[in-house]
Amino acid sequence: MDVWEMLESRRTHLIAMRRDFHAHPELAFEEHRTAERVAAHLESLGIEVHTGIGGTGVVGVIRAGEGGGAMGLRADMDALSITERNDFPHRSRHPGRMHACGHDGHTTMLLAAAEALVATRNFRGTVYLIFQPAEEGEGGARAMIEEGLLDRFPMVAVFGMHNWPGLEAGHFAVHSGPVMACADRFDIEVGGHGAHGAMPHLGVDPVLAGAALVQALQSVASRTIDPLDSIVVSITQFHSGEAYNVIPDRARLSGTVRAFRPEIQERVEATMQRICAGVAAAFGASVHFEYRRGYPPTINDSRAAELCASVAESLVGVQGVRRQARPSMGAEDFAYFLMERPGAYVWLGNGPGEGGCTLHNPHYDFNDEILLTGARYWVRLVETYLPSGKK
Ligand code: NI
Repeated sequence: MDVWEMLESRRTHLIAMRRDFHAHPELAFEEHRTAERVAAHLESLGIEVHTGIGGTGVVGVIRAGEGGGAMGLRADMDALSITERNDFPHRSRHPGRMHACGHDGHTTMLLAAAEALVATRNFRGTVYLIFQPAEEGEGGARAMIEEGLLDRFPMVAVFGMHNWPGLEAGHFAVHSGPVMACADRFDIEVGGHGAHGAMPHLGVDPVLAGAALVQALQSVASRTIDPLDSIVVSITQFHSGEAYNVIPDRARLSGTVRAFRPEIQERVEATMQRICAGVAAAFGASVHFEYRRGYPPTINDSRAAELCASVAESLVGVQGVRRQARPSMGAEDFAYFLMERPGAYVWLGNGPGEGGCTLHNPHYDFNDEILLTGARYWVRLVETYLPSGKK
């Protein structure tokens, strides 16, 4: 039986596995059930398994032939703090937890690829299957790297894949350079002087100063950064006051910054600091500004991206691969792997995104039609990057 037929024969099982993960979502660093099932499945295939890396991370090791190179393939396992609004039988069993980003599908696709890779071993070298915890904001990739992932499993390159609603089901998008943005956070505390709401001249109003800051901070994107460099500055929280007739004594503003280059992040931070100080001074208020780096930008290596694109084309044809897709202002902790090793992160189309089937939406579901496409992609990527030399 050839490898594609073998995968095809596993279709029903794989869908059931994906739906079981979907029904039992777990949040960052709590992926115990998922990690256990992943490890058990790999062990059942005779694969060497390492658990507890970066908390709940799991690594499977598949070797073939003598010598050869080494590569990492990564899937994420965690879910989101969302209450699912779907009513199909495999909906989340846990209110407030949901696989609304398709990591259930990513985990299943990599397990499916593992089945095919151990069955055929049509490559020469070592494949590290990385099942990481906590992609959604908590930096599970960073946790695994800090615990020595790349020393214990010396991969030369690393590859990632994420489903992408809005891209036709089973199509791919990949390009070199920035794919996803950084996700930095900021908090601003404006200190005023509380007063009677009817006697504003006796106080310093932090709400007015805060409102001016909301406006002024939009000039970071429009007036200080080259228009050809994409950035986002979003103020997403503004908290102040508790009464109708009291001018409060402080206001808190928070938000997120997205950019694709470290130089831009530095420029944004410095400019925001300057605007905060200047605007607060203009209103006689005090200000405390804190800027924290989050996930770095995800930047594909050009040769790795080219390799992924050609592998995808060999599976789904030239028409099925978008090489010029625009990057997303979303963020992804696969960025940490790409800061350490060359590699590339591809998007696999999840279909049109109808009925709220978009990432992080309570109506989202991973499209089971693309499970085998994703698994085939992993298998062919391995066979291409680590050629066996056999004909
Ligand atoms: Ni995701």
